[in-house]
Amino acid sequence: MSEISLTDDARHMRHGSNIGQPMTRREGVLKVTGTATFAADNHPPGMLYAVLAVSTIARGRVVSLDEATARAHPGVVEVITPANRPPLAMDPDAKTNPFMFRLDLLQNDRVRYPGQPIAVVVAETLEAATEGAALLAPRYEEEPARTGLDGAEIFVPPAVGPGHPPEAKTGDVEAGLQAAVRRVEAVYETPAQYHNAMEPHGVVASWDGDRLSLDMPTQALAMAQGRIAGLFGVSPENVHIRSPYLGGGFGSKGFPSGPQVLGILAAKMTGRPVKLVLRREQMFGPVGHRAPTRQRIRIGLSEDGGMTALANHTRTASSTFDDFFEPAADVAHTLYASPAIATSYEAVRLDTGTPLFMRAPGEASGSIALESAIDEAAEAAGMDPLAFRLRNYAEVEPISNKPFSSKALRTCYEEGAARFGWAGRPLEPRSMRDEAGLLTGWGMGTATFPALMFQGKARATIRRDGSGLMETGAHDMGQGAWTALAQIAADALGLGIDEVEFRSGTSDLPDAGIAGGSGHTATAGMALHAAGTNVLAKLAELATADERSPLFAAGNVGTIARAGRLVRRDDESRGERFADILSRAGLDRIEADGGAAMDPAAQEAYAMHAHGAVFAEVKVDPDFGQVRVTRLVGAFAAGRVINPRMVRSQLLGGMIWGVSFALHEHAVVDKRSGRVMNADLAEYHVPVNADVPSLEAILVHEDDPHVNALGIKGVGEIGITGTGGAIANAIRHATGKRVRRFPIGLADLL
Ligand code: MOS
Repeated sequence: MSEISLTDDARHMRHGSNIGQPMTRREGVLKVTGTATFAADNHPPGMLYAVLAVSTIARGRVVSLDEATARAHPGVVEVITPANRPPLAMDPDAKTNPFMFRLDLLQNDRVRYPGQPIAVVVAETLEAATEGAALLAPRYEEEPARTGLDGAEIFVPPAVGPGHPPEAKTGDVEAGLQAAVRRVEAVYETPAQYHNAMEPHGVVASWDGDRLSLDMPTQALAMAQGRIAGLFGVSPENVHIRSPYLGGGFGSKGFPSGPQVLGILAAKMTGRPVKLVLRREQMFGPVGHRAPTRQRIRIGLSEDGGMTALANHTRTASSTFDDFFEPAADVAHTLYASPAIATSYEAVRLDTGTPLFMRAPGEASGSIALESAIDEAAEAAGMDPLAFRLRNYAEVEPISNKPFSSKALRTCYEEGAARFGWAGRPLEPRSMRDEAGLLTGWGMGTATFPALMFQGKARATIRRDGSGLMETGAHDMGQGAWTALAQIAADALGLGIDEVEFRSGTSDLPDAGIAGGSGHTATAGMALHAAGTNVLAKLAELATADERSPLFAAGNVGTIARAGRLVRRDDESRGERFADILSRAGLDRIEADGGAAMDPAAQEAYAMHAHGAVFAEVKVDPDFGQVRVTRLVGAFAAGRVINPRMVRSQLLGGMIWGVSFALHEHAVVDKRSGRVMNADLAEYHVPVNADVPSLEAILVHEDDPHVNALGIKGVGEIGITGTGGAIANAIRHATGKRVRRFPIGLADLL
């Protein structure tokens, strides 16, 4: 009941390697027929509906709520406010590690940002709960909202985690700028963006005594289980979370959100199952966002176009009660060689919900600025932008001086440029027009994202009939985990994908680690690989110690799994079926666990990043300033490709976000109220089909022997990087205008 599995798909090959095959999504039919169960699709018997009331002010105090009127509304069962909210076992304001963010769980009457939950109304129907929440008619004592990056309360943020120090440098930037024959100095601004996954945050919660059953989207089952167990004072084993599918997460579902916890609390208080789902406008506040940045970039150039210095000082924003900051400057640590590089940060405290990881956190905002600045530097040097990037190519990771575990970026440049037709691009801006008279421009950007892995576990079982069962609590946000991980799982046992049952998506299974940092396939995949290796080793012990087995005494030469058989490594014709080994041993099944983690020695020795090159063509109406991206070609090298169909799809999705970053996405914050004025999908613009040009993603071959045994680097986030800058640079090339504030709009080009 609590385990979710996908079994065979007979269309796919039975034997041989599953890794590398462009299999279609194994849950695809379920999704397109509406039979895949997302969290909010669950309706346990007796379920109530909870609706949040959220603050309409940015800062101040709730003075009164008309609780009596809300309670009197037909169908309303409970109204939860700071006055009657039961105590929690753990302080939601506590921060016991840097990744534990404060949760708004009706602690008191303070309002710290617009959209903060101030009450929960629980009712028999969604309509009654919605009306009840409206009837609360809060009155506030309001203080002025602090908005915008010019704010007064500045702090130097602590590290968000390893690899993001508040300051980093090599060499002497000021000396490098002094020695330069040309300098580029510019300020780039990126806006606040809000995670707008198709599926909003929500939860369906049922308590049975101390046992808690949850349907809720999460990118990290085990972490959510632990945090929720802590808040409610129950043991983690008693918290059962099902999260088989997410309609997107983008980082905002990495931690359980305040509203999700309030839904669980409502179920506890009413003694009935409760569903709480955020309305779209409620996504703009309590569940994280990408903070705005203002990045001052300085580049010094030698006579021949070499960089003498590269610096990025970033100002960003955080909330008044937490320290998350957007590590936008750090992308300057990876791509380009310079004798002097420096990055530093400061942040402004604003009356806003705490910003959070949002797809390519740091790299996305940082890349659009850095790639624009690099384009400005190339122009200052009178060089072609690709030639300039090759002139300043980092052969080793710039600040650490570590060699790269692999870096096929040159090939990305070559293949991308060839496919796009970059050669022959005139250097002069505003020199190309199409037959309709539209200004035409070509720009490029370099893409990069670190190759990360986290800790994960899996369990492998071989059953008496020789079939496999592979289990890990992984997360499918739409990226294809059900498919890619099943491919790795089957290969780990040497079986066809239809001979292995793959179970995933619940907290009752081994912890697959967080689906984030583009590291989920590597983490969960390596855990499955390790579990498979371990179970095959156990099976080999059985066979090689048994005189009746053709593998008797083959322990020294070793055995390998081939198509449901264990065979001698030195002579694959000698071996026997898994099923025969088990049956002779009188075993019904044999199982083993496996774990994955980043190898600290390899980490110490190598810099690990995925890379890519993105080329963009834009057409701009010279009279109206309207921009159309007409072509995008990206070439990416990210280690081993598990499933080229899924990988291509991830990269295209990232590139579309790059279009969004350059041209569309932007939370408009009212300076007086601090509220997001476009908190809906009609006005918070993301690209639609008509905005998405001809898109192409080239998968560049890259073997990486160091990142992990499977050679996987990850592709979830890199597509955003490079793309935004490529579009901004193409606009410059088309129009002669350099716009340094994103997104770029009509008004910037008139
Ligand atoms: Mo991602 S922002 O690591 O989910």
